[in-house]
Formats: sequence, structure tokens, C-alpha cells
Amino acid sequence: MAVPTEPIDLLCGWPNPALLPAPDLLRSATTVLTDPCIAHAGLLYGPDEGYEPLRVHIAKWLEGWYQPRESIHPHRICISGGASQNLACILAVFTDPLYTRNVFMVDPTYHLAGRIMDDAGFAGRVRGVPEDDEGFDLDVLKNGLHEAEEKAQAEGNTEPKLKPVRPWRKIYKYIIYAVPTFANPSTKIMSLHHREQLVRIARKYDALLVTDDVYDCLQWSAIRGEKAPEHACMPRLVDVDRYLDGGLADEWGHAISNGSFSKLIGPGARTGWAESTEKVAFGLSQVGSSRSGGAPSQLCSTIIDQLLPSGFLKKHISQVLQPAYAERYHDLSAAIQEHLVPLGVKVATPSTNVTGGYFIWITLPPPLRAVDIVERAQKEQNLRLARGDLFQVAGEASGPADRFGDKLRLCFAWEEPRHLTEGVRRLARVLQAVV
Ligand SMILES: Cc1ncc(COP(=O)(O)O)c(C=O)c1O
Repeated sequence: MAVPTEPIDLLCGWPNPALLPAPDLLRSATTVLTDPCIAHAGLLYGPDEGYEPLRVHIAKWLEGWYQPRESIHPHRICISGGASQNLACILAVFTDPLYTRNVFMVDPTYHLAGRIMDDAGFAGRVRGVPEDDEGFDLDVLKNGLHEAEEKAQAEGNTEPKLKPVRPWRKIYKYIIYAVPTFANPSTKIMSLHHREQLVRIARKYDALLVTDDVYDCLQWSAIRGEKAPEHACMPRLVDVDRYLDGGLADEWGHAISNGSFSKLIGPGARTGWAESTEKVAFGLSQVGSSRSGGAPSQLCSTIIDQLLPSGFLKKHISQVLQPAYAERYHDLSAAIQEHLVPLGVKVATPSTNVTGGYFIWITLPPPLRAVDIVERAQKEQNLRLARGDLFQVAGEASGPADRFGDKLRLCFAWEEPRHLTEGVRRLARVLQAVV
């Protein structure tokens, strides 16, 4: 059979270019660059914490979306160069490569975060925690923390070695990394019970919970045609940390939310924000690279800022992104049901009436291995797919060495909508040839 000439890419985790709000950014950029007050703020070095109006507007917008019990003060927000860059800054400020014992990452995990842990000195000390039905296997985490703490005590690892405590920073003993809502790659939503337990565990072991909350706004009904919920389906861990058991354990807290405009405006903007306690948000702003010249993405911050008070961002999310991604998600799901499920492929149904994000995570029937299927799909069907083992935490983790070797991640955000069903048909052809 001839190889299709038109490539189909279900691997790429980018937004489709048709969803990028270029005309609106042009209007914003024109406003910014023609008003000397804003232009000068945008083109000169900015404050360490980021462009103040954007902090104010993000705080207000997040308050509307997450509806936290307490209002969000802009001093809880620090502007970042996006979630990935900011993860590196968090590790730079709040960890010591010797005193901080381990990084615990949900497994499967957002694969590109692994390198950032490695850069910060945690190679060999990253531990995978299986993602269970409620989002994080708490028993494995607790055992791991307990063991690590005993080892640290036996070794006399009782204070930071390389990074002395400074007034603006606290060095945590552990980092726990997760994507609690619409996880990449699994799309799972961590239950409220597990969110609360995680915060309790973080407090007990002096861990900082770092969550990439980058997909939270991209949600819709799991039932086709039903109205999308108007608010976030879950509180973030940073919200839980504020209310749980009488509130924060101390002025630093134990959670930081890593937000990003990459999935809402465009990844090239490289602009995001972190929300945590005022102490942590300020500490983050004191990372060396921001002390030298202010927060990253200053010009972009002034341009993006125009989109918030006008209501554009909110409308873009609810009237453009959510319906477009919902349609794509439902098309891809329906195609999987029709063409792949009869071949033995399994796909988890959403555990709530809400779903979202960018991906569908599927399991191949035994004895098929994703590595072979991905290769054949590329060669025989001109189809790109992401194999499950890419998302395996590199480091110590429970479960078999090849635990995601039967999984594929399909992304519905990048390809043209008309290619989603065709991509699944091509995958079905590959499977039919081998089952
Ligand atoms: C879980 C997760 N975190 C972070 C990112 C990257 O975010 P940013 O572009 O803001 O660095 C992605 C992008 O795919 C992601 O899936």
C-alpha cells in the first residue's frame, strides 16, 4: 500500500496556528508601542517581580477563574518567562543540590521537565511516583519521603550546604512536581482528596509542591454538546495550601503554581506567572537572572497585559479555545472509539464530567509495543505519534522498567481538524497489519 504523501502529526504538543490571536496581539502591540508611558516600561528593564499592571490583572483574572476562598493579592504573583523557564528559577532559588534530598515527579510525567531537574543538580535523585486513579500514589510518595528522611538524618544532612539561607529564600528539603489538572500525557485530574493529602504530606516533610497548571483553563464537558463549566474544575494545590487545616503552615507555604500564556496565547510569547505566598513570589523574583535586569519577557508582558482588562483573554478562552479544543477532543475520541477500540486499544474515560488539555493517552493491546508502532506509523503511514516511554521518569521509580511501553500519546491541539480522524484511521491500519 502506498505511503500517504500528506504527513499527519499527532505528536506535536503545540497549539494550531489558526488559534493564535495574532490580530489582537498586533492591536495590543500598537497600543503599547505608541504610548510612550507603556513603551518605555516595556522596552526598558522592568521590576524583578514583573510588570505591575500585569500582576494586578492576572490576580483578578485568576480569582474569577479559580474562585479561591480568599482573594489573590498581586504580590502573590511573579511574572515568569513561561512555566519551563520558571521551573528552573524555582529550583535555583528554593533548592540546594545537596541539602534538598530528592525531586519526586508524577510518573508518567511531562517529559521535558526532567532536563530542568537535571540542570539543577538532581540527576540520579529524581524519583517517579506512579499516577494512580486519583492522580498521585500517596503511599509510594510517603514511603519514599520517609526513606529519604531517614537517610538524610543518618548522613547528618541537616542544613543547606551550597546555598546559604538568605532573607528572600527558603531551601526546601524536597520538590514534588505534578500536573494536577489535565496532566501531560495522561489528561488525568487529581482528586480533591489527593490534593489535600499532598499538601499535608508536603507540610510534614518540608517539601515544595511545584505544579504546572498550564492546561487548567482548557476544559470542556466530557459529554459532547454539553456546556463547558464556567470555572476551574478543581482548586490548585496553591489554593488548597491556603485554606487547608486552618491555612498556611508558615509564611512561605508549601506550594507554587506555575502558570503560562503558552497554551492560551502562544508559546512563542514565553510569558507566564507563578503564584504562591508573597514570600515565595518575592523570593522567586530575586533569582539572579531577574535581579540582573528585572523579570523576563517584559515587553511581552506589556503587550499581553492589554488583553486582560479588556476581557479579551477571557473571551478568547471561552469562545475560541475551549470550543475549538472540545471539538477536536470529541472528534479524536470518537475516531478512537470507532477505529481503535475494536482492535483492542484501551482509552480511559474521564473520571468526571469535565475534561480538557491537549492529549489522549491510549493503551495498545498486548503484545504490541509503542516503539514498533510509532516506527511503522511513520514509515508506512506518514503519521507521527508520541511513544509512552518518552514520559517515563528517568530515575528511580516503581513498576517495570518499560512501564509505558504499551502507551501512545495523541495530541489533538496541533493538527488540522480534518486530519484527526484520518490520523486515527492510519493508526488503525498499522495495528491491523500487526494484530
Ligand atoms: C505540563 C507542561 N508544563 C510546561 C509546559 C511548557 O510551558 P511553557 O511554554 O510555559 O514553558 C508544557 C508544554 O507542553 C507542559 O505540557
